[in-house]
Amino acid sequence: MSSAPAQPVPTFYFVGVTTRNSSIMKVFPRWMEVLGHPEILLKGIDHKIHDDPAAYRATVSYIKEDPLSLGGLVTTHKMDLYAATQDLFDYLDPYARLTHELSSISKQEGRLEGHAKDPITAGLSLDAFLEPAYFQRTGSHVLCFGAGGSALATLLHLINKPDKADRPDRFVVVNRSLPRLEHLCAMAAQLDTDITVEPVLNSDPSHNDTLMAALPDGSLVINATGMGKDTPGSPITDAGLFPRNGIAWEFNYRGELDFLQQALRQQQLRNLHVEDGWIYFLHGWSQVVAQVLHVDLTPELFTKLNAAASAAR
Ligand SMILES: NC(=O)c1ccc[n+]([C@@H]2O[C@H](COP(=O)([O-])OP(=O)(O)OC[C@H]3O[C@@H](n4cnc5c(N)ncnc54)[C@H](OP(=O)(O)O)[C@@H]3O)[C@@H](O)[C@H]2O)c1
Repeated sequence: MSSAPAQPVPTFYFVGVTTRNSSIMKVFPRWMEVLGHPEILLKGIDHKIHDDPAAYRATVSYIKEDPLSLGGLVTTHKMDLYAATQDLFDYLDPYARLTHELSSISKQEGRLEGHAKDPITAGLSLDAFLEPAYFQRTGSHVLCFGAGGSALATLLHLINKPDKADRPDRFVVVNRSLPRLEHLCAMAAQLDTDITVEPVLNSDPSHNDTLMAALPDGSLVINATGMGKDTPGSPITDAGLFPRNGIAWEFNYRGELDFLQQALRQQQLRNLHVEDGWIYFLHGWSQVVAQVLHVDLTPELFTKLNAAASAAR
């Protein structure tokens, strides 16, 4: 006996690498209850890292043509997907055009729209734990491992800080290959900034330890490589010392999280603030859900979504 085919339902897509393991699979249905749309389903589409452009075009074309596809969120592939599919969009927001990445695919009156939400969401996440005037008070710098979409977004957020006290003097960014480093530096060069951006081409963890050792106390060290989740390991060795009174920010919240574990082991000795990617996850998803479903994301609504997500974590 064959069962009847499932009824097609409005669907929100999640374009990533290992989407089925993400907490959003548990969180999304709860959020749809909060938003009064329990009928909307979440479906993951996995692409391999730096996938074939034709594969990205097939994904975006499907969402564009299928009336029940509402849109979706893109992680990890934000730049590669932008490069492969930008001509399929009827509108790209200014951040998408500046950073050449997109994290949100949505529809408005039949038009396909792409937004880069990371400069907003990386910024909201950083501001949640970095006190005002932090860089002026501490004279500290930023060391960012990885020069991909989220690293670029974090730099853009710092560049856009209107108060000099909220901008570091120096942003050191390390990447294992040249294209993303060049792209990040080209973007920074387009903007009038007093932050010195220092690109480092390197994939040797012991050299990263040396870069970390040269930072002033209080500095912010970011793992934006995906190592410890998308790929094994950490950009630093176990012998690498975090700056005293510094901040270690791992962009992910699931996986082996080796970098986070290394920071936690030094938390007391070096008086570190250690932050994972959970707040980033909440801001990233809530901003894109609001864009795709055309919802006004007020602070009150964010509080409700945060509570629903934390219960499902
Ligand atoms: N919590 C959240 O909600 C949230 C939000 C944003 C991002 N994230 C996570 O943060 C990570 C980065 O995201 P993304 O969008 O920026 O990804 P991305 O665009 O793929 O950037 C990752 C960058 O790291 C570089 N890299 C990888 N291994 C390296 C190493 N050993 N040394 C130096 N550089 C290395 C890559 O170099 P190549 O150019 O050579 O590949 C790439 O440029 C991902 O794991 C993502 O899941 C989490």
